Amino acid sequence: MPTIIEPFRIKSVEPIRMTSREDREHCLHEAGYNLFKVPAAAILIDLLTDSGTGAMSAAQWAAMMRGDESYAGSDSFRRFEDAVRDIYGFRHVIPTHQGRAAERILAATLCRPGHVVPNNTHFDTTRANIEATGAKALDLPCEESHDLGASHPFKGNIDLEALERTLDGNPGAVPFTMVTITNNGGGGQPVSMANLRAASVLSRDRGVPFYLDACRFAENAYFIQRREPGYEDKALIDIAREMFSLADGCTMSAKKDGMANIGGFLCTNDDEVALQEEELLILTEGFPTYGGLAGRDLEAIAVGLYEALDPEYQRYRHASTRYLGEHLASAGVPIVQPPGGHAIYIDAASALPHIPRSQYPGQALAVALYLQGGIRSVEIGSVMLGRRDPETGREFPAENELVRLAIPRRVYTKSHIDYVIEVIGETFEQRESIGGFRIVKQPAALRHFSAVFEPLGTTAKSPAPASRSA
Ligand code: F0G
Repeated sequence: MPTIIEPFRIKSVEPIRMTSREDREHCLHEAGYNLFKVPAAAILIDLLTDSGTGAMSAAQWAAMMRGDESYAGSDSFRRFEDAVRDIYGFRHVIPTHQGRAAERILAATLCRPGHVVPNNTHFDTTRANIEATGAKALDLPCEESHDLGASHPFKGNIDLEALERTLDGNPGAVPFTMVTITNNGGGGQPVSMANLRAASVLSRDRGVPFYLDACRFAENAYFIQRREPGYEDKALIDIAREMFSLADGCTMSAKKDGMANIGGFLCTNDDEVALQEEELLILTEGFPTYGGLAGRDLEAIAVGLYEALDPEYQRYRHASTRYLGEHLASAGVPIVQPPGGHAIYIDAASALPHIPRSQYPGQALAVALYLQGGIRSVEIGSVMLGRRDPETGREFPAENELVRLAIPRRVYTKSHIDYVIEVIGETFEQRESIGGFRIVKQPAALRHFSAVFEPLGTTAKSPAPASRSA
């Protein structure tokens, strides 16, 4: 494999702290074995999320200096709106403080009790915002997505037959169809242009607006360029424009492919809907020319959206994620195949078959990776997505027990990734010594953020002779 060259050099650095295994054991104990509660200063490599954790470029920092902080009609908003319109092509661009604020405004404007919103897979905040209105959020991932180990170029596709059935079975009750690019809940897998076009036609033919959850639109465009016949010679920006031309609006978290640390936006071509959305925006976010953001944040996003579409950047981004995935797979670690754009997902149920799903194998693996080498990942399994009957306490497991290693943009180098590969390999070799967990305290909703766990097996106590002083 040719060497991956990071297409940047480093101008400003941030130290990361080495800890001993004893330090990490102490931090875990204090945090109730919940990695969300471990202080970031005690983490060596933080793969918790790719959201808002990227490094900005010199051009973005320079643009921030000209941030116009006028309450109304700021020049920074004009530059932001021009960039979004140029790439996305929608008539109305509504800035929000992050993606979920755009989702909340969209859902509050269009969804009502009895409505159904289909998506390939709703991200958890999208689902929660839709369901908060009394509507139902329906996941319709394609058939191929269910086989974690199978390699299919577009495992993020929406199931078109199921979409057609949903649209025809709920006449007048589907306020919009949504497709998430790339499909974060489904392993960071891309959606093909053909699938987007077909979903758009099915919806629009029935008078249903078609929306994109566009968080990782540039990564999706790169997958289309590499994998979909007819797109190999098209520029990423033109592929992005074609994707958005199929839609009537979108929600966006600029913390992903906006290459910014905060921000988001909501777009629509519908003048009437835009008016209602701006009214809500003023109530909860801010005036329509800043929407909960500083002028300098708008500047960073205006520059970042183009940087995400830089072919050199995307080549490096995908090569480094794939590099991690391929090395883990060749060490025998079961991962969701093929590697996604922003993250690698380990199949923890297969990696730790001795831990029953009721003892959260994903949580056990995430804790073991931290203990072994100071790496923070996130469980996306029954802790995060399992359902619990509040009356009986009975648990219904999630479809899969995954551990996500999300790669922040332009932050870690190849040697950081090599270190991650080594630590995961060592942990995998000692996997039989890893024990499960039980939850001793949890809130009614979104328990993964604050639940307190207790180790059931050997994880906390094992002397682990081969562990790292990371
Ligand atoms: N949609 C998708 C597909 C996402 O991945 C996220 C955030 C959001 C919407 C919400 O955006 O965080 O700006 O409010 N995903 C992060 C993650 C948190 O770690 O995957 P937000």
